[in-house]
Amino acid sequence: MNFNTKKDSRQYYTKITTHVLQEMKLKEEKIAMLTAYDYSMAQILDQAGIDIILVGDSASNVMAGFTTTLPITLDNMIYHAASVMRAVKRALVVVDLPFGTYQGNSRKALDSAIRIMKEAGANAIKMEGGAEIIESVKRILSAGIPVMGHLGLTPQAIHKFGTYIVRATEEDEAQKLIEDAHLLEQAGCFSIVLEKIPATLGARVAKELHIPVIGIGAGNQVDGQVLVIHDMLGITTKFHPRFLRRYHNLFDEIKGSVTAYIDDVKDLKFPNEREQY
Ligand code: KIV
Repeated sequence: MNFNTKKDSRQYYTKITTHVLQEMKLKEEKIAMLTAYDYSMAQILDQAGIDIILVGDSASNVMAGFTTTLPITLDNMIYHAASVMRAVKRALVVVDLPFGTYQGNSRKALDSAIRIMKEAGANAIKMEGGAEIIESVKRILSAGIPVMGHLGLTPQAIHKFGTYIVRATEEDEAQKLIEDAHLLEQAGCFSIVLEKIPATLGARVAKELHIPVIGIGAGNQVDGQVLVIHDMLGITTKFHPRFLRRYHNLFDEIKGSVTAYIDDVKDLKFPNEREQY
């Protein structure tokens, strides 16, 4: 393992909390975050020493096969989150509030967040948007539930934008993003995700904010990085944004193993003498 002796949370934190993340920002230690949606994967990520596990609404895409994150329900998210929580001992677990469970109604937003905290036992929730959802953010925070913001490309608003291209490249959109980031920090969010924005803008927001800023396609001057686990392991194959680094080609590896198994069954090579009673 490549431990950096000075700045590696794996060496000195047995449990990651929102306070630990704040400390990591102060110490300039980068925060590593990945998604997980089930018990087995969450156990691997946690034992590897990931800082934050996000039960993302990307489950709608990679687990359920929908083309957007919109269809996934609160019950679905609670199911995924509870499975993850049963596996995790060290990482901070953040759960996405799905589309339609918090926009435009802060009472409903609070009820949704409470269900995630109570029924899944999650540590925090994440919400997409800035000024337009700030009442919901404040109401959830007032109940003592930690909130992570999400600005830039916000997939739950895909039908408003019609495209997944880089966000905030124009001055007015960049300015709104900066204002929203400050608004979320002032409201009390413990962290913000910035998705698919220019690296210079990511760097500026991370510098101006006191809370950790986690990027996905927001450059390397932010306080941490997040990727969807199915993308970084190469289980998904049709998604090729510039920001994605694939660490594996699991699609082909798994397919190869399954093909070998089918061949063995059909050729009467499995099970062999030692594999039966
Ligand atoms: O749902 C998700 O996986 C996310 C990440 C892309 C940040 O929100």
